[in-house]
Amino acid sequence: MSNGDVNQGRRRFLVGATSVVGGVGVVGAAVPFVASWNPSAKAEAAGAPVTVSVDKIEPGQQITVEWRGKPVWIIRRTEEMLENIETLSPRMKDPESEDPQQPGYITGAQRSIKPEFIVLVGICTHLGCVPSYRPEVAPADLGGEWLGGLFCPCHGSRFDLSGRVYSNQPAPLNLEVPPYRFDDDATMTIGLDPEAA
Ligand code: FES
Repeated sequence: MSNGDVNQGRRRFLVGATSVVGGVGVVGAAVPFVASWNPSAKAEAAGAPVTVSVDKIEPGQQITVEWRGKPVWIIRRTEEMLENIETLSPRMKDPESEDPQQPGYITGAQRSIKPEFIVLVGICTHLGCVPSYRPEVAPADLGGEWLGGLFCPCHGSRFDLSGRVYSNQPAPLNLEVPPYRFDDDATMTIGLDPEAA
């Protein structure tokens, strides 16, 4: 695939992220993105932590927030999704994420602090496209063995719903898990480690 196609994928993120950020319950981002561009918004873009309300995310829903100029996904996983992740481990390139793509307090197949919520940087580890959220089981275009995951349209890399890359894919590494913590049951902050960590 050409660089033009890859750039196209990135451009799609820029459009998509800007339109989604305003509507997903990001604390303090309820007004149009450009109009809300103030000193604190600039600080967030430069790397400040981003606090997000997560209690309104429906089971199975994915939202996107922006942190350090990158799309960060929060997916609220269902029980069925969590069970599928466990069964998929033998098909993963690095099922325990031994290549460091996550903070030290994130371990195991679920790669999360609370299994219900997975937090991932939404950038493919191959050449930087933005994968698509494909939670369906066995859709026609992805085949009967697909149990829900992330699919990169640029060169076809497949990831499960923990962001683990399948074996024999172009992407060399699992998707990155950023530092984050829960402030309470309804709120998480991307970019800060848990106090105990
Ligand atoms: S950028 Fe190549 S598979 Fe994702």
